Amino acid sequence: MSRFWSPVVGALTPYVPGEQPKIANLVKLNTNENPYPPSPRVLEAIRAELGDDGARLRLYPDPNAGLLKAAIAATYGVTPPQVFVGNGSDEVLAHVFLALLRHERPLLFPDITYSFYPVYCGLYGIDYRTVPLAEDFTIDPADYARPNGGIIFPNPNAPTGRLLALAAIERMLEASADSVVVVDEAYVDFGGESAIPLVDRHDNLLVVHTLSKSRSLAGLRVGFAIGHPALIEALERVKNSFNSYPLDRLAIVGAVAALADAGHFERTRHAVIASRDTLTAELESLGFAVLPSAANFIFARHARRDAAELANALRQRGIIVRHFRLPRIDQFLRITVGTEAECAALTAALRGILE
Ligand SMILES: Cc1ncc(COP(=O)(O)O)c(C=O)c1O
Repeated sequence: MSRFWSPVVGALTPYVPGEQPKIANLVKLNTNENPYPPSPRVLEAIRAELGDDGARLRLYPDPNAGLLKAAIAATYGVTPPQVFVGNGSDEVLAHVFLALLRHERPLLFPDITYSFYPVYCGLYGIDYRTVPLAEDFTIDPADYARPNGGIIFPNPNAPTGRLLALAAIERMLEASADSVVVVDEAYVDFGGESAIPLVDRHDNLLVVHTLSKSRSLAGLRVGFAIGHPALIEALERVKNSFNSYPLDRLAIVGAVAALADAGHFERTRHAVIASRDTLTAELESLGFAVLPSAANFIFARHARRDAAELANALRQRGIIVRHFRLPRIDQFLRITVGTEAECAALTAALRGILE
């Protein structure tokens, strides 16, 4: 606290990202990063943009990131006016909350979900209600068929990894036709079906994506949203009242190059999916119950051992996973799918701990 703070600051409960420890040789399975490097074309594009002397860095980037919007539109079969880009999907989401989800009626999202959502509500003074997931941690669309000022959920959900079928999403869009339904598809490339094809039929649908996960570019900070041009215009209005240049020159060219390398994208996401399936089977054989995951992480609980203790024991062996001290899920571990070697190190360590 300081007398210099604006009154709103003291009341904030900021988001706490998973830790990024500076310890060498750590098996880092706590923040759902991709274990594989990005496409080599990303590096080439960034080097080309830098040139020999970096002279282009003197100049501001394109405030509209037109090249990137065109690349996203071409990749997903939409038009540039249906695309919004931002500095990571967290920034896109921040603008979405202010531009589209701040209404008189409460915003709805699941009780177990991405923990940044209530933080944005706190920042912008948005009234919200959490909707309990079913016993099996799935979203029941019927629970959202009530007056609301908007709906947001990740699909697959985080941290559960559970997927909601497109038909169910379409039912939600129809039941809440007068409010915006935001589907946060940060992890969809690891086993889900994107709702993007539905944007032409539903003017209240906004789909949010990131290049942090399936394109291995968490460090470059690129996210985007796809929806009806009127929704995108609202986001542009907020963005241009906040920061004209959210994406720097290197991020724009790097993201364009990543989207152009479909082969790299397919190989790496299928490698992650294969490792997830192997890891799931291994953990089940060690006595874990693993929720079906369509993401690049799994959510698992052991039949007999306390989750916090397991997380600590793994940490002592140089492996970090995520444990949330939250109602309903405090006996679960969220484990990012690593390389085959990292997954093998995890299961070997667990075998030792559980003996
Ligand atoms: C569900 C969900 N949405 C959005 C994000 C934000 O990703 P980024 O800001 O890196 O694009 C994350 C990151 O972990 C996430 O889990």
